[in-house]
Amino acid sequence: MKKEILIPREDIQKRVKELAGRISSDYEGREPVLIGILNGVIFFFADLIREISIPTKMDFIRASSYGSGNESSGTVRLTKDVELSVQGKPVIVVDDIVDTGLTLTHIVKGLKDKGAESVKICTLIDKSERRSCSVRIDYSGFRIKEGFIVGYGLDYDEEYRYFTDIYVLR
Ligand code: IMP
Ligand code: MG
Repeated sequence: MKKEILIPREDIQKRVKELAGRISSDYEGREPVLIGILNGVIFFFADLIREISIPTKMDFIRASSYGSGNESSGTVRLTKDVELSVQGKPVIVVDDIVDTGLTLTHIVKGLKDKGAESVKICTLIDKSERRSCSVRIDYSGFRIKEGFIVGYGLDYDEEYRYFTDIYVLR
């Protein structure tokens, strides 16, 4: 498979700082719980949370909706749920990429059921082409229409996550 660079590391870092700046001012005086969706979010989450200038708490959810290829299986299963209490807390769900929107719709509902005061969504990449569940994305790094993206945490069949830049597979 061929890969072409789509978003170089400098652009990622710049955009992450901008998102962190917006979150820091929107949540000034509060202490949001940032919940990362594993595994793809690891580098984005680590970079984002360290650029945010207000106190935050962190926790993670592991969801699996994809089989081994690049097509969603259509059902979302949580293989790891949050462990911190989100009851009455402002929550920001942080994801690597929103594709169909199925995973986040399921996760947001779960967090609201657990009594979160508010649930906002922050994603590095908003991929609109295959959106089937409408989700309100509050903080979005980059918008793309289509293509399968790897690197900076994103994988194709567990490969390429460690790349520092983001590539599109052809
Ligand atoms: P959704 O439920 O279809 O929105 O799927 C979201 C999840 O699918 C993301 O968090 C990724 O883990 C994975 N995913 C969707 N599109 C891509 C892609 O282009 N590259 C890598 N992973 C993807
Ligand atoms: Mg993911």
